Amino acid sequence: MIVTICALLILFLLMKFFRAKKTLPGPWNLPILGYLHKLDPKSPHLSLTKLAQKYGPVYNIKLGSINAVVIADVKILKKVLAKDETLGRPSLFMIDTVFENKGLVFTSVDLWKDQRKFLANFFKTAGITKVSPNRKKWEMLVTNQLEKILQVMKSQTHGVPVNPSEFVTQYANSIADVLLVGKQSSQEDKTVTGGEKVASVTFRGPLNFMPFLRVLPYFKKTLSSAKQSVNKVRQNQRKLITDYEKSSKDGVPNLVEMFQQQMSHPIYNFDQLQHLIYDLFMTFNEPIITSLLWILLFLAQYHEVQDKVRQELLEVSRGETVTMDDFANLHYTRATIAETARIRTLAPTGLPHSVSETICVEGFTIPKGAMILPLLWAIHMDPNVHEKPEEFRPGRFLDDEGKFFEPESFLPFQSGKRMCLGKEIAQTAMSLFVANVVKDFKIERLDSSALDLTGVYGVVLVPKPQTLIFKKI
Ligand code: HEM
Repeated sequence: MIVTICALLILFLLMKFFRAKKTLPGPWNLPILGYLHKLDPKSPHLSLTKLAQKYGPVYNIKLGSINAVVIADVKILKKVLAKDETLGRPSLFMIDTVFENKGLVFTSVDLWKDQRKFLANFFKTAGITKVSPNRKKWEMLVTNQLEKILQVMKSQTHGVPVNPSEFVTQYANSIADVLLVGKQSSQEDKTVTGGEKVASVTFRGPLNFMPFLRVLPYFKKTLSSAKQSVNKVRQNQRKLITDYEKSSKDGVPNLVEMFQQQMSHPIYNFDQLQHLIYDLFMTFNEPIITSLLWILLFLAQYHEVQDKVRQELLEVSRGETVTMDDFANLHYTRATIAETARIRTLAPTGLPHSVSETICVEGFTIPKGAMILPLLWAIHMDPNVHEKPEEFRPGRFLDDEGKFFEPESFLPFQSGKRMCLGKEIAQTAMSLFVANVVKDFKIERLDSSALDLTGVYGVVLVPKPQTLIFKKI
């Protein structure tokens, strides 16, 4: 009896040991390049998804000198991102050089904690969160910007083919401007929003992964041109910040105004403010512009979906401007916006995190120093959780009673303490735009040929420029 108990105990301890120590699977890596040479540079998310099908939902891959752990399973990803050990961002040469560990998005944990708290408080004061007493004022601010764009569309685009990126960009810029600096920037200041291009170069650039390239003249030039672009953007921001306007007439405070009130504290200096503004223009504009373009293209491609959205909008709003309160009853419209975010995941390889101490999740040991790549694309396109994932079907976000719901395996904003800070801003700005445009315009393709819905991968997956027709109803 005692022998059996001892044998079982030893077996149990051995199983526990081996489960904990399970090394991560992954492809074979070359010494200097790692696996970089095998990733499709145009669609690395697709190459990484194929590897997940072969090696499983958590695997190890070398990107040049960087040790990355790719996670393609929603439950494991949520558990990993919930840990304090994964709060940091990886140290990447280009990012560190350009962003200097300031601002918010690319900062290390200490500064991040303080600035995230400050921004969460700012968003609440400005009315952006659901619980804020200023919520109606914020909605009014967005609606005012939207009305201006709708007027332009009504006067300029009736039946004439246009690239929608122009007015979508104008819309996003105008909200970001008012929210951050209290007034709209002039045309020549627009490079203030060129941050996303810099982000694409800095995030994906080979200098991050292959240190030996940094001595070659061609790459030295790449680095200096990235720095120059950032400096140009910063120059314009400096001007905007120094001319910022105090609370708009409707009483919504702006970021510069609230930051200035903290300036007795050493972290709250002009340099940090500039980096913060840069980060927020970058994280605000690009996701909203890109997501809205995807939605317009999918609506133009799938007319039956567009008609159903419009029918629901007309029933709920009775022809009036659609408000956020209406969204409690706009289930199909919400489902259509969500389905577009699933089928064209904005950040297919997510935003990376770093691991400060070795962690063990679901038997997978993720070592200290690794870079975590949340493979959101694989999660959103997994046929085991989303039936026929290649098909555009808003209905998958509706329950049996036709009510909107978000399945667990839908994660466009990532998760954990560092998840997207702009989820609510994005949802308000996008929902009001889509609803009011679809209510007022029929969105059509130029002819019966299908649109190109493949996209181009940068930091985000951007649709290829295409022309649509907006017919006033
Ligand atoms: C459809 C729209 C958007 C999507 C899909 C999206 C997605 C994401 C994702 C995947 C992350 C990475 C989270 C992580 O590291 O765990 C992120 C971070 C972030 N997003 Fe968004 N985003 C969107 C819109 C916005 C908007 C409008 C803002 C407004 C300012 C914003 C602000 C941020 C910020 C500040 C971070 C960094 C958070 C941090 O490091 O603590 N996002 N977003």
